[in-house]
Parts: sequence; structure tokens; C-alpha cells
Amino acid sequence: MISDQAKKQIDAWVAKYPEDRKSSAVMEALKIVQAENDNSLSAESIQDVADYLGMPGIAAAEVATFYENYNHKPVGKHVIRFCHNISCMLNGSDDLISHLEDKLGVKTGEVTKDGLISVKKVECLGACVGAPMFQIGDQYYENLTAEKIDEIVDGLK
Ligand code: FES
Repeated sequence: MISDQAKKQIDAWVAKYPEDRKSSAVMEALKIVQAENDNSLSAESIQDVADYLGMPGIAAAEVATFYENYNHKPVGKHVIRFCHNISCMLNGSDDLISHLEDKLGVKTGEVTKDGLISVKKVECLGACVGAPMFQIGDQYYENLTAEKIDEIVDGLK
């Protein structure tokens, strides 16, 4: 079920496209619905988005499962999206991901016991010049070291 508040937000995106192209707002609609469902999308909520936009459920599911910014199981309040693609990998991301997992006591894909943080390995985020890097929310953190990671993670509330 999509809340009235979320519908208003989705409608604002729908209005940016031609009337017969409501489905063009699917990525933002999924993002909005995800945000109001503990940052996770169920099969039911994906179908709700499809129904609201008048598109086939499978088409919305294809989008929701293709892009890594959609979650399909519970995640932490903060999701650390750690790039492990070529530039980051060549600059030590594998060791830094292991460091982060050890620090948090979780493996990639898991949530810390307090529900605060989860870690996700993602493909290139387009910030290769700052490799190794990760993203939390809309913020990029680049040229990471173990010390920098500790400082960033210790600051998450
Ligand atoms: S490879 Fe990591 S940002 Fe491009």
C-alpha cells in the first residue's frame, strides 16, 4: 500500500513526463516507496508501484532488481555502498571491505545488531579517480583508508 504522502511525491515525478508515459517515473516511485518501508522493497510494494503507474508488475520488478540502489531485504539505517569494481579493487577495496566487516562484526549484506549499519558491495559508482570509495546516502567518501573508514563509521548515529 502506498501512502497518500508517497502518492503526492510520485505524482510530482509523473507530472514531468507525457501523460501516456507514467511508467517513466518508476525509478523515483520505487525509491519513494522504499524510503517509507524501512528502506526495503517487498514484492507486494513493487506491485503496488506498478499498479499505481499503470504498468505491468514484471516491468517494475525488472527495474527494482536490476539497479543496486533498491533493497529487497531489511537494511540498516545507514547503508554503506562499497564499490568493489576495477579501480577500487586495484586500490585496495577488498582489504578495506574486510576491515569494515571486522569493525562492524557483520558480513556484506548483513545488518549490525543495533540496526544502524549495513554493508553492500556495489559496482562502479563513477568516482574512480577517488578510488577506493563508498557511498552513504547521497554522500561519496573517496580515497578511503582503514583510518578514514573508522572515523566515518564512528560518526554514524
Ligand atoms: S571502480 Fe570504484 S568508483 Fe569506479
